[in-house]
Order: sequence, then C-alpha cells, then structure tokens
Amino acid sequence: MEHILTICYLIGSITFILGLKMLSNPATARKGNLIAAAGMTIAIFGTIFLYRDEAGNLLHNYAWIFGGLLIGGIVGTLAAKKVKMTAMPEMVSLFNGMGGACAALISFVEFGHIAKHVQEGLPINLGSLLTIFLGLIIGSVSFAGSMIAWGKLNGKVKDFSFTGQHIFNLALFAVILGLAGFLLFNISAANIYLFYVISFLALLYGVFFVLPIGGADMPVVISLLNSFTGVAAACGGFLYGNKVMLTGGILVGAAGTLLTILMCKAMNRSIQNVLIGSFGAKSTGAAGGTSPQGNYKEISLSDAATVMAYANKVMIVPGYGLAVAQAQHTCHELEKYLEEKGVEVKYAIHPVAGRMPGHMNVLLAEADVSYDKLLEMEDANEEFKTTDVVLILGANDVVNPAAKNDPASPIYGMPILEVEQAKTVIVNKRSMKPGYAGIENDLFFQPKTSMLFGDAKAALQKLLSEIKSV
Ligand code: TAP
Repeated sequence: MEHILTICYLIGSITFILGLKMLSNPATARKGNLIAAAGMTIAIFGTIFLYRDEAGNLLHNYAWIFGGLLIGGIVGTLAAKKVKMTAMPEMVSLFNGMGGACAALISFVEFGHIAKHVQEGLPINLGSLLTIFLGLIIGSVSFAGSMIAWGKLNGKVKDFSFTGQHIFNLALFAVILGLAGFLLFNISAANIYLFYVISFLALLYGVFFVLPIGGADMPVVISLLNSFTGVAAACGGFLYGNKVMLTGGILVGAAGTLLTILMCKAMNRSIQNVLIGSFGAKSTGAAGGTSPQGNYKEISLSDAATVMAYANKVMIVPGYGLAVAQAQHTCHELEKYLEEKGVEVKYAIHPVAGRMPGHMNVLLAEADVSYDKLLEMEDANEEFKTTDVVLILGANDVVNPAAKNDPASPIYGMPILEVEQAKTVIVNKRSMKPGYAGIENDLFFQPKTSMLFGDAKAALQKLLSEIKSV
C-alpha cells in the first residue's frame, strides 16, 4: 500500500512539473492545467485512502474530509465559472490567501501536538518546531496580505499608509522573528501562549505589508504572496515528510518568485520600488484630468475603415482597455473579415499588457484567436517596419515611447512595442486620460498617429460595419 502511495506522489510531482512547463505556452496551457490537476487529484485520493499513520491505521474521518472537499469543490467551481476575466487577479488573490491560511492551520494543528509534549514534559523535535514557525509566519502573512490585496482590487480596501510605516513594518517583523527564536529554544508550559501572539502579529504584519502598496501594483504583490504560500506549503511537506506537498510547494514558491521578477523586469521596476514606491497608486481611479501635451488628430470611422481595408498588413495591439470593454470577440470578427479581404492581420502582445501575466493571451484565446497570430514583443517589433496599420485597442503604457526616449519618465527602460515604426497608427481609447502608470503618452501626439475615441467594443462594432461597406 505504502508503495502505491509513493507512486501516486511520484505521478503527482511529475504532472506538476509537466503542467507547469505546458503552462508557459498558450497552445498547451489548458492541457497543462488539466494534467497538473489530475496529478493533484491522484495525490489527494491516494492520501485519503492509502495513507497510514505510525500505528498503521488508515484515515477514518471521511465525513469531515469529503464534507470539506464537497463544499470547497462547489464554491471553487462556481467562483471560477462566474468570474469575469478582468476580476481574475482578485480571484487568484483570494484562492492564494486560502492556501496561506491552510499552511498556517497545519502549523496550528501540529503545534497542538508539540504543546502536549511540552506539558507532559516529553522531548520535542526542534526541527519540527522551526518548520511549524516558518509555516505559521509565512502562511499567515500570505493569508492576511492576500485578503488585503483582494480587498484593494475590488475597491473595498483603500490604500493606507502613515509616516514611518516601513520602519514600523521592519520592527514588527523583527519582533515576530525574535519571539519565534525565543520560543524555539525556551519553550515551556508557561509560554506556549506566545505561539498565538506570534500568529496574531504575523497576520498584522501581512496587513501592514500590503496596505501601503499602490493598488495598481497588486498583481505583482499577489505573485509575490503566491510564492510565500508555496514556501509555507513546502514547510507542511517537510513537516509530514510528504514529497508531493514538498514538490508542489517548492514549484509554487519558485514559479511565484520568477514571475514576480519577470513582471518587475517587464515594467522596469525593482521589487523594492513596487513594495515601497506606491507607483501607480494615483492612476487606479483613472479619473484625474490630464492636460494633453499638444495637438492630436482624430480619425473618423469611415477613414479608419478605408485605411485598414486597403492595407496589406494590420497589427492589432491589445491592452487593458480591450479587456475592460470585453471586445475580444468583436476584435476577432474584425480580424477574420479583414483576412477574408486579403489583409494580413497579426496581434502584438506585450508581456505586461493588461493587468495580469498572460492577460491578453487568455483574452484572445477566449475569442478563439489562433495562437500563431500572436507575436511576442521582440517578433512584433521586427514586423512593425513592414506593417501598414497598427490598431491599438485600449493599450497605453506598453506603447509609450517615453520608455525609450525620456530618462526622466517613471517607465524609462521598460521594453515597449515600437509601433511608431509602422506607416500608420490608430489608437482606440475613450479619452486622452493616461493608463496604469499615470503618465502622458507622446505617441498620441505624433503625426502618424490618429485617435479613434470610444469604448473598444462599440468602436470595433462600428468599424466592422464600416469596413463591410468599403
Ligand atoms: P494601460 O496603460 O493601463 O492603458 C489602458 C488604456 O485603456 C487606458 O489608457 C484607457 O484609456 C483605455 N481604456 C480603458 N477602458 C477602455 C474601454 N472600455 N475601451 C477602450 N479603451 C479603454 O494598459 P496597457 O497598455 O495594457 O499597459 C498595462 C499596464 O499595467 C502597464 O503599465 C503595466 O506595467 C501595468 N501592469 C501590468 C501587469 C501585468 S502582469 N499585465 C501587472 C501590473 C501592472 P481611457 O480611459 O481614455 O479609455
């Protein structure tokens, strides 16, 4: 039986690695997710039915286990079916918080056993206690931080900071570490309560850690908290000597860390800048009036339709606005119609377009846009030179030339889609307001750029009917 369980865990671990690898390509991502989920199912059911404790007993509390599985399964399925693409980071944050809470709860349960040993004067395993503390602290920070991130993303929690907050946070963290260190070497029946003090302080730290970070930086923070949850889960794996939990935790921890670094790089920000910079906090409301820096040209729908219908090659640049407007299906219709007319149509995908990693890929996949039409930034930048029309749909920062030309710009150094190399640029957005970074975009004032104002979906629908009449 034990060997079969080990094989279940091996299958689980292999599917996690395979699944993760397949997630890196839009064409295989869905399958990769399913494969990893199947491996996780095998590992879970293997544990439920094959695991034996030290006394050789199988698990017996099936009503609790299947009750929890059923409730969690129903809530998770309904939430995943209902969620809008634009609210995905919120849901990821909520689910990630639950993972952190689970890791912290494991520490609570296991500390109960240690406390019993201490009260009975039996020796305790220092290594286990250390792992329990790590799981507790990291899991609690991840849970509380993710809840705040979730609240910020859905507008229920406002940015909040006070002078000296970063010092306060550092001091709080030092107190947590100090208490854990003290308890580790001096645990006695009289100071067991300190464990609960530590868990309360860790929750508090999670709240204060995320509260001052600019609301618009939440996706990066969520990715970082996600890596925390992975490490906390790996602590559980250590504690139980459970290899699949360990592998899963380490993979989540490593993937979350790499993703955080990647997102920071693509935005040309350092992680410190994200954590203490409050960058983008101003722009989350997107309501503040900005003064256009010069004259910009507008283009009529019929002119835009003519230019596109007679082009050889059109490159579509999707951005956050396309997701907000849910215009991906109309966009795909336009693409198909143009192709029927003999126009070559491709999409230029910036790695941080939208508000979460792979946002545009997922959005366009939802509308059945063929994967081979999606160009990564480097390839797109090569192809702009031979492009007649670039149609920008609700993108702003990812095409802002200030990232290349203006050393004073907060986005200076961020790689961008160099759309100005094409012959004509048409920008669809609702106004001249800035995007996420809250800065002006010089592209809108360049001679080859024309603005097509309006909600992306409405504008695309009208553009499509105009093109049909050309
Ligand atoms: P943004 O720079 O945020 O610009 C989006 C534009 O869409 C806005 O200027 C807005 O202008 C327009 N818009 C909003 N609703 C619209 C609608 N219904 N129809 C048409 N247009 C609409 O987007 P981007 O170019 O995709 O860049 C993404 C930004 O998010 C980057 O700065 C990136 O660093 C940041 N970020 C990304 C991620 C990831 S991982 N993707 C994570 C964190 C931060 P109007 O209001 O005038 O319409």
